[in-house]
Amino acid sequence: MRLHIAFLCSFLAFCLVVAVDHGNFKTCEKSSFCRRLRGVTPGSSPYALVAGSLNTYSDSVVADLINKETNHLFTFKLEAIKSNTFRLLIDEKTPLKPRYKVTDALKGNPLPDVIKAKEQNKGEFVITSGPNKAIIYADPFRIDFYQNDVLTVQANAKGLMRFEELRRKVIPPQVNENEEQGNENGQQEQSQNDANVKDLTNEDPGAWEENFKSHHDSKPNGPEAISMDFSFPQALILFGIPQHADSFALKHTANNGDPYRLYNLDVFEFELDSRMALYGSIPVLYGHGPEKTAGVFWQNSAETWVDIYNSNAEKNVMSSIVNFVSRSKQNDPLSGHFMSESGIIDAFILLGPSPLDAFKQYTDLTGVANLPQLFALAYHQCRWNYNDEQDVETVSAKFDEHDIPMDTMWLDIEYTDGKKYFTWDAHKFPNPLKMIKNLTDLGRHLTIILDPHIKRDAGYFVHNECTDRGYYVKNKDGSDYEGWCWPGSASYPDYFNPEVRKYWADLYQLENFKTVTADVMTWNDMNEPSVFNGPEVTMLKDNVHYGGWEHRNVHNLYGHMNVMGTFEGMHRRDPNQRPFILSRSHFAGTQRYATIWMGDNAAQWGHLEASIKMCLAEAVAGHSFCGADVGGFFGNPDVELLERWYQAAAFQPFFRSHAHIDTKRREPWLFGEATKQIIREAIRKRYSYLPLWYTMFYEHERFGLPVMRPLLAHYPKDVDGFAIDSQHLLQDRLLVRPVMSAGVSKVDVYFPVKENKKPDIWYDIDTYQKYDVSGFVSIEVNSNKIPVFQRGGTIIPKKGRIRRASTLMKNDPYTLVICLDEIQSAKGTLYIDDEKSYKYRDGQYNYIEFEFKQNLITNRFIDKPNYKTKSWLEKIVIAGLKSIPKTATIKSDHKTENLEILIENSAVIIRRPGVSMTENFVITLN
Ligand code: GLC
Repeated sequence: MRLHIAFLCSFLAFCLVVAVDHGNFKTCEKSSFCRRLRGVTPGSSPYALVAGSLNTYSDSVVADLINKETNHLFTFKLEAIKSNTFRLLIDEKTPLKPRYKVTDALKGNPLPDVIKAKEQNKGEFVITSGPNKAIIYADPFRIDFYQNDVLTVQANAKGLMRFEELRRKVIPPQVNENEEQGNENGQQEQSQNDANVKDLTNEDPGAWEENFKSHHDSKPNGPEAISMDFSFPQALILFGIPQHADSFALKHTANNGDPYRLYNLDVFEFELDSRMALYGSIPVLYGHGPEKTAGVFWQNSAETWVDIYNSNAEKNVMSSIVNFVSRSKQNDPLSGHFMSESGIIDAFILLGPSPLDAFKQYTDLTGVANLPQLFALAYHQCRWNYNDEQDVETVSAKFDEHDIPMDTMWLDIEYTDGKKYFTWDAHKFPNPLKMIKNLTDLGRHLTIILDPHIKRDAGYFVHNECTDRGYYVKNKDGSDYEGWCWPGSASYPDYFNPEVRKYWADLYQLENFKTVTADVMTWNDMNEPSVFNGPEVTMLKDNVHYGGWEHRNVHNLYGHMNVMGTFEGMHRRDPNQRPFILSRSHFAGTQRYATIWMGDNAAQWGHLEASIKMCLAEAVAGHSFCGADVGGFFGNPDVELLERWYQAAAFQPFFRSHAHIDTKRREPWLFGEATKQIIREAIRKRYSYLPLWYTMFYEHERFGLPVMRPLLAHYPKDVDGFAIDSQHLLQDRLLVRPVMSAGVSKVDVYFPVKENKKPDIWYDIDTYQKYDVSGFVSIEVNSNKIPVFQRGGTIIPKKGRIRRASTLMKNDPYTLVICLDEIQSAKGTLYIDDEKSYKYRDGQYNYIEFEFKQNLITNRFIDKPNYKTKSWLEKIVIAGLKSIPKTATIKSDHKTENLEILIENSAVIIRRPGVSMTENFVITLN
């Protein structure tokens, strides 16, 4: 159906403006649990701690919590976690049956921290852990979290917490005539003595079963939703909870349209400025203000909606500042209200206090992207589809003919035999091993798609094995669930079963998949999972997974478990190289296994803008390795859009061109010489910065901080910069402001201010022109470049010799670009290893810091240098020097030499220092 609509659209001009079919997706009002929980009005909470029930342990307190309206009991636990983190857990004390607890999202057991607890006033318990404090108010139940004595996060301050208690399914005394409508008259009780009788007339019609379009959800457990509100009294902006095609700053949603939705879905032709769910769900929300940043990670894999309370959102920045100053009087802090269909309340409170602290607290819990092989950070060439072996070889050869670097060719679903993954179409791809060898001989890679839907074909071994072994996700009656996807009728392996993950991993082994090599990488797509004929294009919620859990509980984790299996398979296949996996669906923690992209965007300027906003939201939620289809998936970009997209994406982590099967071919040489040169330049620029990208990803793994960052990460007091999402930082080294509209000769760049209200100095990366300005500045652009600046005070490693693939640049020499700050100093790092294996984890790497100070350039090995690189230092560029040096002398372990000095643009060039990257040196300028 998707193919069909897109096919029609390629003939109909008006279809070029893509539009989602809203009728295919639920609004909050159409979702029974969201309707119920959103219907709760802020006010006094019915929950209270049971007097005398609080017990204190070394790292936590545990108590009973009661719903005073139903007298139902819950267990409450508040645990301190290293560092500056609390974990809040609430579950039913004696549930009718166990409630689902998320597995595999956390990277391991969080490290507990010690606490002290005391009752300060009656019903007010103070829990202290290091510089943090939580005050638990017994009745009405609420927790205030303080960071260094400043109230930073509040749980249940609005009283919106609800915990629907599991109840026995009602058996109506007579058949309900209106069954189709979902018991609109309310359920009758099993027994007149049952405590719930009084609730029946108010029962939501969808509480015990629910229909959406032609789909029925039987809800065997009835209503079991949970919710909690979290306020951020210090915040002027809330952000996070990807994936949404919306601004980085979250909008006010309470009583204002739908909440943001987290439910992994394949949304055909998704729209912009939307709170609709998309392919991934990461329930981490941050609040930031000039004094404090904090976050809440709501660990729940069921369908979740998040209402945002931000009465300042629509007002201008000035009034935000005024509001901030008078916040205490107003008493309406920014808040998020999490509402999930099932599970337990499990929330991590990240107390910052800085933005980077809060981001790190989140990755301490859920992990980081492992250092990728260098080639994965280079340029990827994809389309749906490269048609046959000849096509692949021709495209690869054309990149060489036009002298455009390219590292990876991709094959989409058409390479398979009838969408049976782990097979090849024997006519179009008669000799895949030869094709793969031809690519790898050139230093290139191949990535192939392997989707999780398995064709129900009696001649297909994967289907037969999954059927025989009972590996598919089940219908509620225990039979194999069957849905419709690319192959037609398909079933879905239940990756929640460790044995299925092992089986999936086995499929990747070369003895089983004989037509690939260990160098072939993986793309797992459609893993929300996408089911064309399912409710909201996904699986039925009452399907059953391993352990008897309903799909409802685990939906947002399905893709995560899929790529866990893939990672296991690729790692086992070749333990000596780091797997590269691209996944569309993602959850908290998926960054440990896979790279992600923004799915099926469109060839429109707005989607280019969205690529930054969306990747910024992902980056603060742990997913640093993120990108969007260059050029847009649907539709045909005009040349200007395509050029601008390449220029922007060259400065985004995952850099891949991709397009729908019905689009025109768009390899860079197809649009004339001028466009080819522009695209070539953009890609070559990416290759020149690969040493920086590689260093940044190493530092991401080592320090847990995002690679792509919003301005507030480094300018936390610059209120005017908080919501800016048309530009981004790469660490604190580069500031990137792409051109994202047609025909412009100028763009407004925002230069942020530091805590002392002064700006940094920024240098144009091509001309080294200096910008010592703050606020919005109109910068002239031409078609050859976008504004990108290096921050004064940083040193960036680059390479100047660009080759056909990054793998061939391994031994090439380095250039250091030194941009000086106001005190004529700078620092920066470079990371080097074999770019492929895990040997760096045994110490085989060099991690170097360079410094410019008082006219001396020095290096220092942060750890003992242990990787024998052939690379050497070819060139040093210094921008911002107050006086031009007459001499430059290098002293290293084996030489003392005068170096040649040149002036280029406004920078000083020191030619051929000529030292190995494993050697200590000092260069003196006079
Ligand atoms: C999905 C993917 C897209 C891919 C297509 C065919 O729509 O998002 O990237 O090309 O499926 O596999």
